[in-house]
Amino acid sequence: MKITVLGMGYVGLSNAILLSQSNEVIGIDVVSEKVNLINNKKSPLKDDYIINYLKNKNLNFVAKTSGKDDYADSDLVILALPTNYDEKEEFFDTHFLDDAIKEIKEIRNNLPILIKSTIPIGYTREKNEEYKSNNIYFSPEFLREGKALYDSLHPSRIIVSENGGFEKEIARLYKSEALNNPKVLLMKSDEAESVKLFANTYLAMRVSFFNELDTFAIAKGLDSKNIIEGISEDPRIGNYYNNPSFGYGGYCLPKDTRQLYANYKEIPNALFKPIIESNEVRKEFIAKDIMTYKPKQIGIYRLVMKKGSDNFRKSAIFDIIEILKKENVDLIIYEPTVDSDEFEGLKVINNLEEFKEADIIIANRISDDLKDIEEKVYSRDIFTRD
Ligand SMILES: NC(=O)c1ccc[n+]([C@@H]2O[C@H](COP(=O)([O-])OP(=O)(O)OC[C@H]3O[C@@H](n4cnc5c(N)ncnc54)[C@H](O)[C@@H]3O)[C@@H](O)[C@H]2O)c1
Repeated sequence: MKITVLGMGYVGLSNAILLSQSNEVIGIDVVSEKVNLINNKKSPLKDDYIINYLKNKNLNFVAKTSGKDDYADSDLVILALPTNYDEKEEFFDTHFLDDAIKEIKEIRNNLPILIKSTIPIGYTREKNEEYKSNNIYFSPEFLREGKALYDSLHPSRIIVSENGGFEKEIARLYKSEALNNPKVLLMKSDEAESVKLFANTYLAMRVSFFNELDTFAIAKGLDSKNIIEGISEDPRIGNYYNNPSFGYGGYCLPKDTRQLYANYKEIPNALFKPIIESNEVRKEFIAKDIMTYKPKQIGIYRLVMKKGSDNFRKSAIFDIIEILKKENVDLIIYEPTVDSDEFEGLKVINNLEEFKEADIIIANRISDDLKDIEEKVYSRDIFTRD
């Protein structure tokens, strides 16, 4: 099969590498630096499997800056373009997808399109209605940043929307590359879109639950770890995904929870808005709790959301910084991926020893780098700390 993939971010690149093991794949991105790196077998993203597969595997994969010439003889186009949350419209901004679908449809109306981006519920159906077609499909993507290709090779499940008949071929494409014989689920596109938003909102709810438990424990002088271990031994709750943090963040959870809430419109609900609000309340609490130590200088250890991440998209630490900026306190940052001595008006000190001289170091996630000054590290990373 010849497959054109639009968007060489985490989703597009890992899909392209996965499928180019057995298919001809053309990867498209508007950023020519990314395209050049990929064609030189170098990864634009920090992801061990992507780096290794690009370098060492025999892939039938070429990257370009435009897909126009390839639509004519492609068998499938995969869209892995950004869908950022538009704060004003209170809905995902789908213009990248809208434009790509329009262009593809103008060139070849009968070319199957598979959307891998996260989209509002109803989007695929509405696009099929708009173009009087039934060949736009949706398959939710569940990969994690930094482990994107690993997760694509070991998918927890493969879900494809059922409409024009090509869904079985799409499911076969993904299943044949998976190393773990995953379950395949076919369902209406509105249902497949719902799966993605409800799954991410569940994860955000779980993070918020353990974070608010931790807030309670701090306020009452209790040991969060004991409480969390105690409740997580119940197999219905489970001992995983329960480590407190400053708040949930990253590219997906903040925007997907908001999109699900927006999709409810007038449908009765009371659970979803508080999940969004809880994250804000948590960050305010953490900032306040840090200030109880009366620091004059606060060192912010890393801006990335989690270990191994290569970007700062919607890291919880940014909101904490904004709150702390209002206090009479000096803020300094340690972030080795920032190649400058200033970041958004704050001083960056990438000499770790100099950085460690701050009165208090705040770290969403603990690292061995901080072992020697542990007594002045503020973190709620309870399970990694030991
Ligand atoms: N990052 C994740 O962990 C993850 C997981 C599941 C789903 N998703 C969803 O998948 C989608 C993509 O996420 P991502 O993290 O890969 O995004 P990303 O922002 O990392 O990558 C998107 C890429 O698309 C490129 N691009 C933008 N406009 C383009 C165009 N017109 N033509 C070609 N390329 C273009 C950008 O240069 C960028 O490289 C989003 O909807 C996201 O919500 C992401």
